[in-house]
Amino acid sequence: MTETRTAIVTGAARGIGAATAQRLAADGHQVAVLDLDAEQAQAVADQINSSGGKALALACDVSDAASVDAAVAQIAEELGAPTIVVNNAGIIRDNLLFKMTVEEWDLVMAVHLRGAFNTVKAAQKYMVEAKFGRIVNLSSTSAQGNRGQANYSAAKAGVQGYTKTLAIELGKFGVTANAVAPGFIQTDMTAATAERMGVAFDDFIDYNAKQIPVARVGQPEDIAHTVSFLASEGAGFVSGQVIYVAGGPKD
Ligand code: NAI
Repeated sequence: MTETRTAIVTGAARGIGAATAQRLAADGHQVAVLDLDAEQAQAVADQINSSGGKALALACDVSDAASVDAAVAQIAEELGAPTIVVNNAGIIRDNLLFKMTVEEWDLVMAVHLRGAFNTVKAAQKYMVEAKFGRIVNLSSTSAQGNRGQANYSAAKAGVQGYTKTLAIELGKFGVTANAVAPGFIQTDMTAATAERMGVAFDDFIDYNAKQIPVARVGQPEDIAHTVSFLASEGAGFVSGQVIYVAGGPKD
């Protein structure tokens, strides 16, 4: 049986985050839709509310601790104590190392790593009190190294170490922490990569699909499905894992 919980999904205005928010709402949870893009976050929350779910949109910069603390306090007040946290907000600032600026490095670290730190820091007391929690952090196959992504691959590898430590520290409170590491997923983020490379998105998708054992690229719903499992009651003995969702094996 699914207990109704309050879930926070960051970067939920579009792409993987939006699909995850919709999926967790369909699973019966109240969902806080956090994003820098307030208007688009509201559109996702409206869509959930009009299909029978319960969602609250909040403008929030995950890299800013004060912004996250205020959002989490409002969520606890209006939706209930948050005990599911999905750290999905992300950006890319790709460049070959010799051209990469300190700003590009810092920004990527701030959103992926500091962001995932801020949300869990703010929400952990609710999970500890409830003796239940599910933390799911978005990593990437790029954690294994990817040309042009020194900043992003370091951040996504960092997410994996961070996740394992959360699992160790919070396990005794009924809290699990796992990372989902997607391969190529068809979203605005991969569309931006295609544009930067000067390739039509359809051609980029076809090219990538040919490298993937299941012969297709991933969709946001593929990731949402995996997050849904990790957030479920029954997944309480799965913790500190990195699940590659990439249409084929990864280390
Ligand atoms: P996307 O670019 O479509 O969506 C990211 C969302 O995060 C946007 O709505 C954006 O406004 C929001 N965001 C960015 N910075 C933020 C901040 N400081 N505070 C709050 N919200 C912020 O990206 P996509 O493709 O949906 O990716 C979601 C996650 O999955 C990211 O962490 C990404 O690194 C990861 N991922 C994506 C893959 C892909 O192929 N699309 C592959 C592997 C990992």
